[in-house]
Amino acid sequence: MPGVALPKPSFRRGSPLDGVDAYAFAVSKKGLEWAKEKGGPLARLVIELGDFSANTEETKLIYRQETWPPRLILAGGGDREWYGDAERLRVAVAAAVKAARELRKVHRLGIEVEPGLLQDAAGEGGSEEWAWEQALVAADMANYVYSLKKKSRAPHTLEEIVLDAPEASEKTARAIAVAVRVARDVANAPANKMNPEKLEEYVKSLAREVPVEVEVLHRPELEELGMGGILAVGAGSVVEPRLIIVRYRGGGGLRIALIGKAVTFDAGGLDLKPPQYMLEMKYDKAGGAAALGSVVAAALLGLPVEVTALIPAVENLPDGRSYKPLDVLEMYNGLTVEVGNTDAEGRLIMADALAYAAEKIKPDYMLDYATLTGAAVIALGSHAAALLGNDEELLKMVEEAAWRAGEPAWRLPMWPVYEKQLESKTADTSNVGGRPAGTITAAKFLEKFVGDTRWAHLDIAGVAWVQEKGPWRPYYSQGGATGWGVRTTIELIRSLTRGKN
Ligand code: BES
Ligand code: MN
Ligand code: ZN
Repeated sequence: MPGVALPKPSFRRGSPLDGVDAYAFAVSKKGLEWAKEKGGPLARLVIELGDFSANTEETKLIYRQETWPPRLILAGGGDREWYGDAERLRVAVAAAVKAARELRKVHRLGIEVEPGLLQDAAGEGGSEEWAWEQALVAADMANYVYSLKKKSRAPHTLEEIVLDAPEASEKTARAIAVAVRVARDVANAPANKMNPEKLEEYVKSLAREVPVEVEVLHRPELEELGMGGILAVGAGSVVEPRLIIVRYRGGGGLRIALIGKAVTFDAGGLDLKPPQYMLEMKYDKAGGAAALGSVVAAALLGLPVEVTALIPAVENLPDGRSYKPLDVLEMYNGLTVEVGNTDAEGRLIMADALAYAAEKIKPDYMLDYATLTGAAVIALGSHAAALLGNDEELLKMVEEAAWRAGEPAWRLPMWPVYEKQLESKTADTSNVGGRPAGTITAAKFLEKFVGDTRWAHLDIAGVAWVQEKGPWRPYYSQGGATGWGVRTTIELIRSLTRGKN
């Protein structure tokens, strides 16, 4: 993957009947009459028999003998769902793509969206143009597969998905879909293919095709700057740690910093993880992937904003050079940290990056993404990211943006009482606060490094990849990384810059 060209989304704007070998209806329960009219006698029969009732994710394949295309897929968009109307649209479109992929013979799929389903979604996002964009992005996400080198029965993907969307929607959807693919590719990559060094190469290869500038701070610079957190966590690997900085300058006056945890593999360090927990830790770079995808999206969309992604990239491994329990680290902002556990490494690298961003960029808003705590999975499972921060107004905006994007985030408190759990006898703070409220104490730790910058933190440990208990959406297709965070950030930046250009 490193060095390869920008990924390509699989949708095209056009008539869903033009040159396709399967035709699908994304239809809500209220739209069943529409489907009867439009689908011909067999679709009418199937619906009247009650064999398809448009429940969410329900699909039905119908063969038609005298009409082209010969396959008609009915995909349900339900009626009322806890996740709202935009998500019903995404789910229906994605279910159609999934059903077509499973046939393994379909190459071009046209999707017709029932007008009522589209209108309900538009009500949530503000316009039909937005709803179409969401449908396109969901279609592409459902067709995603991590580029496997696999000869035996690789998953089948569609060459083209055709929707009759407005031109403007196609344009924005293209940017977002590419960015989500970038984020999923980075998070899905095996740790041997995407260590800190290879991540740097990959980011630089992206910068040849996307209007962003890349600056990378290597060990000598990190030492010069006193980034004790990044240096300590990275010490146990033969691949040196680095801070990857990706800038998009879109003007407009608003400055946003996005900080993403990229532990390309988290073995736990000397506090080694047991095998079953270590197994999934190639995904511990998903936060960095989200920050990278977000800046790529902002750049491709040409949003009127300055976005800087700061991605501390390290491997957390046990070794003769590893940092050790009860070490005391000196961080970029001058605070000292006692290492209570080397497996609480994410907050150490994030702390340096947050403090550096706050001081050097002086952003109006700072947002971070990190697969930071197992406790976030205990608290919310795989159906919401944990959202914490220091600014009520920003947190409300992030919460709303996340909801619109179909990436729910749920808030946890940041009361000062939680800070007590972080007290240390040998340093200003410990990096661990014990088992209770683990997600909150991790955020309280980060808070010590953001200064007075308005800041929101997304703990995506439960949602960054498809785990045993979710998140289940047909657009996460064959599992793996979800790209969680990219679509939220785009919604947030668009709401912050609305009216500017
Ligand atoms: N990357 C993990 C958190 C994680 C766990 C993410 C499971 C996704 C699924 C993080 O670095 C970690 O190990 N956190 C520890 C912190 C503890 C030692 C205070 C945890 O959550 O157990
Ligand atoms: Mn860890
Ligand atoms: Zn980690």
